Amino acid sequence: MRPKVIVNVAMSADGKIALSDRTEVKISGEEDFERVHGLRDKVDAILVGIGTVLADDPKLTVKERFVEDPKQPLKVVLDSRARTPEDAQLLEDGDHLIATTQDVKKEGWIKCGSGNKVDIGMLLNELDKEGVKTLLVEGGGEVLGSFFEEGYVDEFNVFVGSLIIGGKDAPTPVDGKGAQGFDDLIDLKLVDCEHLDDGVLLKYKVKYG
Ligand SMILES: NC(=O)c1ccc[n+]([C@@H]2O[C@H](COP(=O)([O-])OP(=O)(O)OC[C@H]3O[C@@H](n4cnc5c(N)ncnc54)[C@H](OP(=O)(O)O)[C@@H]3O)[C@@H](O)[C@H]2O)c1
Repeated sequence: MRPKVIVNVAMSADGKIALSDRTEVKISGEEDFERVHGLRDKVDAILVGIGTVLADDPKLTVKERFVEDPKQPLKVVLDSRARTPEDAQLLEDGDHLIATTQDVKKEGWIKCGSGNKVDIGMLLNELDKEGVKTLLVEGGGEVLGSFFEEGYVDEFNVFVGSLIIGGKDAPTPVDGKGAQGFDDLIDLKLVDCEHLDDGVLLKYKVKYG
């Protein structure tokens, strides 16, 4: 068993999620923030990669401005080289878990696999044992690349904001190595489409062949 995995990401109209140097860009507005915080409140855990922690220093909390009496989910970081800063904001409040590999000697961190990246299958197993039934993965592109390539995504929510970021090196929602041939393409089924702020939220179910 593994948790249900929901991906949520915001991209520009040209399919980028940040500037080329990884600086965060405000892509959505208040209506979408409210939706995202409502979604965070419903899941058991939220996961990001260390790239996102270093670039954005997110809190990953549910703000009371959007959700009354929120239930704060567990915060999970994928970090195979122990780069999480001690003063990272997500470590401040609530429960957190840093997932790394056997090679990293850090007390209290969860060790998943012995390669150069966290073994996501092992981590999902561990999260399931901890009672995590629904996991929200918020990025960034490399982490989402691994989740899609390894077949772990059930739902894909993408907010498309009305701006162009441009640049061939700017991160996209799903980076990583990408499809190497037609057999690697991942089919989606569009299940909902909503006008929010000055943009569009697209909701897909993922159909692995
Ligand atoms: N617009 C949005 O919705 C949104 C949301 C989130 C982030 N972002 C943007 O995305 C950018 C960060 O994305 P990113 O691609 O650079 O970094 P990322 O996906 O957040 O993190 C990638 C890092 O995670 C670690 N990792 C450990 N195990 C992994 C695995 N199995 N698969 C993949 N990665 C694994 C690796 O570093 P180690 O080898 O050191 O472990 C890897 O380099 C920032 O610019 C941020 O602003 C945008």
